Amino acid sequence: MPTSALTVEVALDPYTFRAQLVADARAGLTAQPKTLPPVWFYDERGSQLFDEITRLQEYYPTRAERRLLERHAGEIAALSGADTLVELGSGTSEKTRVLLDALAAAGALARYVPLDVSIEVLTAAAEDIARAYGIDVHALVGDFTQHLDRLPGGGRRLVAFLGSTIGNLAPVARARFLRALGDQLGPGDGLLLGTDLVKDRARLVAAYDDAAGVTAEFNRNVLLVLNRELGADFDVEDFAHHALWSEEQRWIEMRLRALRPLSVRVEQLDLDITFAEGEELRTETSAKFTVDQVHDELAAARLAVTATFGVDEGEYLLTLAAPA
Ligand code: AVJ
Repeated sequence: MPTSALTVEVALDPYTFRAQLVADARAGLTAQPKTLPPVWFYDERGSQLFDEITRLQEYYPTRAERRLLERHAGEIAALSGADTLVELGSGTSEKTRVLLDALAAAGALARYVPLDVSIEVLTAAAEDIARAYGIDVHALVGDFTQHLDRLPGGGRRLVAFLGSTIGNLAPVARARFLRALGDQLGPGDGLLLGTDLVKDRARLVAAYDDAAGVTAEFNRNVLLVLNRELGADFDVEDFAHHALWSEEQRWIEMRLRALRPLSVRVEQLDLDITFAEGEELRTETSAKFTVDQVHDELAAARLAVTATFGVDEGEYLLTLAAPA
């Protein structure tokens, strides 16, 4: 039985995390139009609902990505030559096992470094993986837009950023993030990036507006997070889920639309806000990509594409890249 060490490092403590919620809520709810960043979806209930979303018939990205991983993990492992798998926004680390299995089979796997904002989800996944693989696990509680400099170095690292989570970043933030990531990677390191691809509007919208209403519940759950964490008095029944495709921005937007004129008190911000009937709060943008665009955005961060998977199907793209 190989020995394994489990480390949990906290780059983002609960006080700072809460201070960010306070700042985001104040800025976003007083902005015109109103917005909230998608990171606040993922309390325990939100994480559960997202898991449910990944199993919906309409939500193709998770299945498409898993299919590509299953088909190409061996080649990805061989090309990367990594002994360390870093995973940004690791969540339950469910799809990660496909990569861990391939890296273990390739022979060099020694360490897994998951990074996530949720210490509970992170610790549970880290313990499971340390036990199942007998490798060192260095879990980092953090935000991938802020704490890349806290990732442990050493060895040959493959940084996986899956699920098209990068799509949540708007273009400027995305360029900044990729540059920061490129700066962290040294010779021998690599990046495995999952990106959802532009496709016909009907399929895109259906993936974010499923018939069973799971995504609607996921969207409205952010209001319950504000009620609980900030003493707000949102009635979720007053808001309708709205998903739309912006051809111009090439992103899906999720919004919550007030069904009647409303006023809402946010006690812990000492803030009263009003919604006109039909006024919308934007809760998420989820960018969709083209193959060339991914290539160009990586190149702008001094990352050179080593291999791509999924181009022929055109549904979803896995890109392997390395410091140029
Ligand atoms: C986890 C950000 C990739 O944008 O598709 C799913 C989140 N939102 N359904 C996505 C989400 C609505 C998801 N990401």
